[in-house]
Amino acid sequence: CGITGYVGGREGSVRLVLDNLKRLEYRGYDSAGVAVVAPNSPTVTVLKKAGKLSNLMNSLGDLGASSGAAIAHTRWATHGRPNDGNAHPHTDCSGRIALIHNGIIENYLDLKEQLLAEGHTFSSDTDTEVLVHLVEERLKTSNGSLEAALRSALASVTGAYSICVVSEMEPDVIYAAKTASPLIIGLGEGENFLASDIPAVMEYTRRVLVLEDGDFVKITPDQVTITTLEGELLQRDVFAVTWDVSTASKGGYDHFMLKEIHEQPQTIRDTLRGRVSDTNQVMFPELKLSREQLLNFNRIVIVACGTAYHAGMVAKHFYEALLRRPVEVSVASEFRYSDPIVDQHTLAIIISQSGETADTLAALREAKVKGATTLAVVNVVGSSIARESDEVIYTYAGPEISVASTKAYTTQLIALYLVGLYIAEQENRLGPTVVAGYVELLKALPAQVAQVLKLGPEIKELAQGLSKSSSFFFLGRGFDYAVAMEAALKLKEVSYIHAEAYAAGEMKHGPLALVEPGVTVVCFATQSALYDKMLSNVKEITARDGGAVALVKDGDEGLDTRSVDSVLRIPSTHDWFMPILAIVPMQMLAYYIAAALGREIDQPRNLAKSVTVE
Ligand code: G6P
Repeated sequence: CGITGYVGGREGSVRLVLDNLKRLEYRGYDSAGVAVVAPNSPTVTVLKKAGKLSNLMNSLGDLGASSGAAIAHTRWATHGRPNDGNAHPHTDCSGRIALIHNGIIENYLDLKEQLLAEGHTFSSDTDTEVLVHLVEERLKTSNGSLEAALRSALASVTGAYSICVVSEMEPDVIYAAKTASPLIIGLGEGENFLASDIPAVMEYTRRVLVLEDGDFVKITPDQVTITTLEGELLQRDVFAVTWDVSTASKGGYDHFMLKEIHEQPQTIRDTLRGRVSDTNQVMFPELKLSREQLLNFNRIVIVACGTAYHAGMVAKHFYEALLRRPVEVSVASEFRYSDPIVDQHTLAIIISQSGETADTLAALREAKVKGATTLAVVNVVGSSIARESDEVIYTYAGPEISVASTKAYTTQLIALYLVGLYIAEQENRLGPTVVAGYVELLKALPAQVAQVLKLGPEIKELAQGLSKSSSFFFLGRGFDYAVAMEAALKLKEVSYIHAEAYAAGEMKHGPLALVEPGVTVVCFATQSALYDKMLSNVKEITARDGGAVALVKDGDEGLDTRSVDSVLRIPSTHDWFMPILAIVPMQMLAYYIAAALGREIDQPRNLAKSVTVE
């Protein structure tokens, strides 16, 4: 989600915060809203609309010219569909406090229950509305101090948030707080700005305070006071912004693709959040499936397109190993016309970042008609696939702007791993201790991905040379083959170089004829049980003068620059989870090769982010 705010004397503060918000639309575009405490008005005025920001701006009327402290929000839905009611700002029962929020309040259901018992009424399905009612409730015990009530409410919530609050009780003040989602303050003369990202304030100021987790802020036109939630005073250095607006919206990266690659430690954490308990058990409060239903499934079909299909390929290996059921993965456009063998004993898992891909949606409908139970793994909340599926698990990767998918893929994998562990546990295939061991490994992945990202400079250099290759093969066995498919797709999409993934053992049955100087073969060797076989396959390549790049685990001694041209070393985890660590260097490789070739990286020719035609 995107947040902006303003306190100061300018006329037309509503128009100002919305103009600033335009620069943050890449953070979400499900709905938008604004709240203003106009001078002499007894209440906070709120206007919000589903859809893009332009919808809201077109219906502003006189409100656009309104002045006073204002906050605005563009939403990327996490709890509750994207509609007018679920749009931010949310207000309390009295209508005196308006709050916007970016993040997730994890314990909102418990809090909501208490507040309902205390007589509060709710007009949305969001976690955010619970927080504003909690502030109202705490006003009763804070001598009417909004600041004290807010601090007390925040102390009771768990989760990740940045929030902003305005109220007619203190017309010239914005309160803000942050635990996880980004929030910055733009410093002006007799006015101050707030935003979730720097580009939003750059038209007015280049002096910025970047808030840190745990900061609680009171902002007036002339003063910014930062404290801990407990009230201890804090100092933050002023940061002078030297970037241009376009670089700033990409977080300082040249392209959204690179930014999104670098977001993966955080997005993986977000997917895990709320799904693993303190004792490392898997929890899916959103799933309604009973143990009996799970035992009733004798097969699993996975249906998706593109990158999501490749995530399904990894899941197949994992589920077959773990659940000992046949798992079939189908490309959605094939599935729907193949009279698929699906019945009421089938669990159909539908994977889609956008939740709108026409072929995938049609496949979901086909599976339902045939009696399957459908479970969707989707990024966009409230999308068609999410709405129509019996069960839905969100990946919480945030908006993915680059057409070539990166963070959506790794978060799909995390969600699919969790589903597998959850089913195995429900069916008593795995005991709690074993599950806890696997969950511990999943929780270690964000830090390991961060380590892989440090290979950036090395991969960039490698990419310079490899950008001259005429063609690429990506080879692997088992899980590595599934990752190789995604690696080849990434390279094709953004570099326009021909790339093909092959099961390493199958090369000798034909494609080996294509290997010659100028052809680069990337060999994945992260699977312990298949390692020796993979080594033989690498030799088949180097013996034919193909350029070979190996991707191996740290500590691997079988492959080095005596046997191949280049080696990329990545941290090690259980073989099942290696795909997460193996794909990240390949995303970077594709990116840097495309950059070396001067391609349109974020919007490759001929491709679209969401394909809503057959
Ligand atoms: C398009 C995109 C791909 C994506 C595929 C499936 O082709 O360019 O990046 O993998 O659609 O999209 P979905 O939103 O269903 O995951």
